Amino acid sequence: MIPSVGCYGSWPLRLTLAMQKTSAPAPVDASALLARYQQRAAVVAVIGLGYVGLPLVKAILGAGFKVVGLDVDREKVAALEQGRTYIRHVPAEPFSAAIANGRFRATTDFTALKDADAILICVPTPLTSHREPDLSYVEATTRAVAAQLKAGHLVILESTTYPGTTCGVMKPILEARGMRSGRDFFLAYSPEREDPGNPAFATTAIPKVIGGDGAEALALANALYSAFVPQTVPVSSPDTAEAVKLTENVFRAVNIALVNELKILYEAMGIDVWEVIDAAKTKPFGYMPFYPGPGLGGHCIPIDPFYLTWKAREYELPTRFIELAGETNTQMPRHVVGRLADELNHRTGRGLKGARVLIVGLAYKKNVDDTRESPSFKLMELLEGRGAACDVHDPLVPVVPRTREHASFAGRKSVALDAAAVASYDVVLIATDHDAIDYKALVGAAKLVIDTRNACARAGAVGGNVVKA
Ligand SMILES: NC(=O)c1ccc[n+]([C@@H]2O[C@H](COP(=O)([O-])OP(=O)(O)OC[C@H]3O[C@@H](n4cnc5c(N)ncnc54)[C@H](O)[C@@H]3O)[C@@H](O)[C@H]2O)c1
Repeated sequence: MIPSVGCYGSWPLRLTLAMQKTSAPAPVDASALLARYQQRAAVVAVIGLGYVGLPLVKAILGAGFKVVGLDVDREKVAALEQGRTYIRHVPAEPFSAAIANGRFRATTDFTALKDADAILICVPTPLTSHREPDLSYVEATTRAVAAQLKAGHLVILESTTYPGTTCGVMKPILEARGMRSGRDFFLAYSPEREDPGNPAFATTAIPKVIGGDGAEALALANALYSAFVPQTVPVSSPDTAEAVKLTENVFRAVNIALVNELKILYEAMGIDVWEVIDAAKTKPFGYMPFYPGPGLGGHCIPIDPFYLTWKAREYELPTRFIELAGETNTQMPRHVVGRLADELNHRTGRGLKGARVLIVGLAYKKNVDDTRESPSFKLMELLEGRGAACDVHDPLVPVVPRTREHASFAGRKSVALDAAAVASYDVVLIATDHDAIDYKALVGAAKLVIDTRNACARAGAVGGNVVKA
């Protein structure tokens, strides 16, 4: 395949040669810029200091660069200035130490971009209420960058998005004042692959895919990332790099949907899907384990695939796998609530109306405090819609935060998990398998446990009152 933008096979030697061969003399000396990255003399700005941006800042500081962190959220900036972080698994020490020695500052002032060589953008890419890509954060940030753009700037988008965003949406905004990508400034896309809370894979342990708008952009971005990741993976264009990220997340969404479907089928057959997966994953090739659950959560898997389905419409091509996976995964909270109601009815002769349900876990996955898109909200909505009264326990989320779709749950406090309290509920529904929960004690005290994560079995907490769903 012929790359759509400059991409030179053997890396990095041929790319360096390509930079020297550029025919029209560029006003920007890309070789001098390259040296700044190689010598770690470059200043890096990171815009969007959230779950992705903050660990990224830590990684870049760790490589010896000076970093400016920008966010529109004054509270985040103030917290960093005061030596605190707001993400549980990201410690404050590297930031406060770097502030003290002048290598880091956090600010809401975008004129700080003038001091930077590279600008990395990690702002949200959610869906609109009509479940279409919402690029408003990327566009607003790009306009803010455009207002400060100077010769030699390297602008890299890290937010997850559909192919065509970097070159089709950002580039025209950045070029509107006459500067040209590849000549005056450099533009690239490099998707973030952060797995928040996963101690095995910090930002610095994950290879980085990079697509540049031209050879120089690719070379500069590669020099920057090479300083703090174990491997860079240059691809032929930003479009390709955007597609790589979506492919990774579509792959997960489809495979999770598959095991969710198998769970329902095997449940009817009296077969434990988790036992099946544990045995299947002993095959040393051709199989990769994915696990069923109460539905999808987080900022990525429930959202990203729809960036691709939306873009596919432009090409009048179907994305049936993605749509079907979305439908299957979306149905899971309904399946869990149906199963819970059946068990309650079967065991006590009672319906959901008036039943007291304790939902264990509000975070969308274990050991994080991130509740975005968590299926626990949907479970609560469905249960209360059928007349149940729900409480929540989450060791990492003391108070239910406000969400657009479930604002009425905001402010509810996480209840204590002592034996007397647990025994007072008709059903305990495990939605998140946090390690901090004592599952043996929970099973010992509860009347009925509906376990959507196989958490009890994994903890050796067995009992006739535990039902996997
Ligand atoms: N969270 C993950 O696990 C993960 C993993 C890989 C990729 N991503 C992608 O990374 C991107 C960021 O996700 P996140 O989880 O870090 O989001 P986040 O909400 O945790 O952080 C985004 C930050 O951007 C700030 N922001 C919003 N608009 C801004 C603007 N105009 N200027 C400056 N700052 C602005 C917000 O205040 C917030 O602090 C998304 O595209 C997401 O899909 C997320």
